[in-house]
Amino acid sequence: MRKPLIAGNWKMNLLNSKVPAYFTALNEVIKAVDRQKVDTLLAVPAPFLATARESAQAAGVWIATQTIHEKHEGAFTGEISIPMLKDLGINWTLIGHSERRQYFNETDATVAAKTKATLEAGIQAIVCVGETQAEREKGQMEGVLRRQMEAVLAVCTKDSNFTIAYEPVWAIGTGLTATDAQAEEAHAFIRSIVREKLGSLADRLRILYGGSVKSSNIQGLLAQPNVDGALIGGASLDPQEFGKTVSLAASR
Ligand code: PGA
Repeated sequence: MRKPLIAGNWKMNLLNSKVPAYFTALNEVIKAVDRQKVDTLLAVPAPFLATARESAQAAGVWIATQTIHEKHEGAFTGEISIPMLKDLGINWTLIGHSERRQYFNETDATVAAKTKATLEAGIQAIVCVGETQAEREKGQMEGVLRRQMEAVLAVCTKDSNFTIAYEPVWAIGTGLTATDAQAEEAHAFIRSIVREKLGSLADRLRILYGGSVKSSNIQGLLAQPNVDGALIGGASLDPQEFGKTVSLAASR
């Protein structure tokens, strides 16, 4: 069985000055959790990375950035590079979150370029895929997932280390969670594409589910054979709630 990863994504929320207290509160909830049973990560806004890395140590939580640029340096105003991340001792990033695709024009090609850059640099990426409501209603879910996954897998080998997050866009921030069966169906489909393209990578690849996950629905999701964790937005802003979700994941 793959070890579950519970990842939070603060998006553009909270304040740097509140970060230490967040981790103190989170640590209180998860300090007794057996870390052999669950990995935990938080993707924080760039200005908080250094504070978060420091504060997260006691709680044993990995810190990630929410996006990364594929070039190592240059005239790319506002962007964050892989060397900048490594210099802070941070080894994780999200790539291609649906909000990046929707509001910042990230395409399958840019997501692939970013994934390639992280693989080459030894940075761990959580690469996000998922269909919109309109695509699902038109019966295009599998076509969209295949297109998004093939772009990513084209830059990978069977030895690549990364994580996929399946996040149906219609379930993000809406309170609508995919049912356990809908999540399992999509995850099994994604894993079948990985197997078709890269064989044994499919057995060890973690596929997280994202979209209105919280402590009340994590257990049903994690009971699905192809769901290996969660990417949690809104419900990761509250350390008690996020910690409870981590604890439940460890006891699955
Ligand atoms: P949500 O966001 O948990 O608030 O739905 C998930 C995400 O966008 O990663």
